Amino acid sequence: MAPVVQIQDIHKIYDSGEVPVHAVRGVSLDIHKGEFVALMGASGSGKSTLMNLLGALDRPTRGIYKLDGIDVSQLDKNELADIRNQKLGFVFQGFNLLARTTALENVELPMLYGRHRKVSSAEIRERAHYCLEIVGLAKRADHMPNQLSGGQQQRVAIARALVNQPQVLLADEPTGNLDSKTSVEVMGVFQKLNEQGITIVMVTHELDIAHYCKRNLILRDGVVVRDELVKDRLIAEHELGKLKQAEAAAKLTAAPAA
Ligand SMILES: Nc1ncnc2c1ncn2[C@@H]1O[C@H](COP(=O)(O)OP(=O)(O)O)[C@@H](O)[C@H]1O
Ligand SMILES: [Mg+2]
Repeated sequence: MAPVVQIQDIHKIYDSGEVPVHAVRGVSLDIHKGEFVALMGASGSGKSTLMNLLGALDRPTRGIYKLDGIDVSQLDKNELADIRNQKLGFVFQGFNLLARTTALENVELPMLYGRHRKVSSAEIRERAHYCLEIVGLAKRADHMPNQLSGGQQQRVAIARALVNQPQVLLADEPTGNLDSKTSVEVMGVFQKLNEQGITIVMVTHELDIAHYCKRNLILRDGVVVRDELVKDRLIAEHELGKLKQAEAAAKLTAAPAA
């Protein structure tokens, strides 16, 4: 099967300032369906620039990017918007949920544009509900973002990213605002989705978080300097189980002796 993401010698040069910045300098990359990739690298190494290219938010200065067989490098602004809507789901560090709007309505939003205009509102509601169920939040459908914890808000954002049934889920530092246990819970949601066949590419600068992915790519100065499969991958469910046991043990020790 052809890769979902095919990148050939892609470059991005920002030339708006006084000195042009060559942020991505010849990256070639294939990502197949079912992969789960962590994109790592120091600050300024080009991670966000590469994610913007992958997300069809920006076009490469040169090089070829094919998403699900479509040459994105050739598309105009409207066509880029369409392809984003049809093929990609986005998750951000800051959740980006609309305040004073329920979890369910937040998840419905991406369906209100593009090719879903003809879908009935009952069906939209049903599909949004199903996506909240997938991330384990069906019972919180009527809650506003400020009534949800950070981890729950990020799960709503993941449900929103899923609602258009994307080929690829792109996440930029999705655990960046979360404590370590909540981060593992969110990685558990990603692992479950990935098992169901969704391709995921996420930026992280945390090595332990990258260990939950299947493949790690390391960028330096706009080029991929390492590309390797993760050995001894962490499984979120196991790690959460260990955390629970440790918490229970700590409680026992803290209890006063009879
Ligand atoms: N819009 C922009 N205009 C000019 N330079 C930019 C722009 N965005 C990023 N850069 C530069 O490109 C390089 C890579 O940045 P970025 O992709 O944000 O790296 P990372 O996400 O790994 O921190 C940096 O030198 C940064 O200053
Ligand atoms: Mg960045």
